[in-house]
Amino acid sequence: MRHFTSVQEIGDLKQALENARYVKQNPFADQSLGHNKTLMLIFFNSSLRTRLSTQKAGMNLGMNVIVLDINQGAWKLETEQGVVMDGDKPEHILEAIPVMGSYCDVIGVRSFAQFENKENDYNELILNQFIRYSGKPVFSMEAATRHPLQSFADLITIEEYKKRERPKVVLTWAPHPRALPQAVPNSFAEWMNATDYEFVITHPEGYELDPQFVGDATVEYDKEKAYRDADFIYAKNWAAYRDPHYGKVLSTDRTWTVDAAKMALTNDAYFMHCLPVRRNMIVSDDVIDSARSIVIPEAANRVVSAQTVLKEILLSI
Ligand code: CP
Repeated sequence: MRHFTSVQEIGDLKQALENARYVKQNPFADQSLGHNKTLMLIFFNSSLRTRLSTQKAGMNLGMNVIVLDINQGAWKLETEQGVVMDGDKPEHILEAIPVMGSYCDVIGVRSFAQFENKENDYNELILNQFIRYSGKPVFSMEAATRHPLQSFADLITIEEYKKRERPKVVLTWAPHPRALPQAVPNSFAEWMNATDYEFVITHPEGYELDPQFVGDATVEYDKEKAYRDADFIYAKNWAAYRDPHYGKVLSTDRTWTVDAAKMALTNDAYFMHCLPVRRNMIVSDDVIDSARSIVIPEAANRVVSAQTVLKEILLSI
């Protein structure tokens, strides 16, 4: 694996899960792989889990790690090509990317959808420029349309907790006061569609995701029906995808908050969320504080997913 941006690059899913199990049981077995190799983590957006878990994964593999917050201390970067740079951005990404590439062996990039231009977001303008101009293997730490390290950790967690071979997994939209990207639900859907699980997406009308990510999932607008007999409830807010409402909040309907009444309809389901989560908007306190909430082991598996992917990248260089 040279670059990692989606489920496509992970290869055989069963093998990837086997690799992840090995990494989890033997976190320091491959320290020599990263010896004298530098991992650079570049953040255009805030992070807690991705920053720490990916840094930890690199250190477990013996790598040196550099973290750069573009918006704190670096020059503001121009990302559009062909513009007259007479504004507040003194450096162009066309120079900045190869310079960053010259200082490291592997680059991780976090760059969210900006909701200004749907085409730019869905063409992954920033991530793809890193792939094109850095000269180094690049992996996504959440880009405009996908969050593959999160989805891989989610899959690892479901495999660890599932009680039947083909669990019913439900992705539910939940309310949030601000517009959030579709990267997590898109990516989760893409990874769930790569399994043989029963996969259902439920959301209010108007929140339909890009059909390329929905794939073969069942879309159920009746949330109570969707919850019935579920083994896993995966909650996430996202802003509207469809035009003319792209990037807009259409509803903050609190009947979509994951609560004990809806969880009671399930097959004693586990509650999952990528975090950070707004309590009593996305999920009620009693659900996230219950024994059925697995958000902490899910977040802990972010080290495992990052280390499994980084190991494959190191093996390729
Ligand atoms: N789930 C996740 O990516 O968390 P952070 O935004 O804190 O990295």
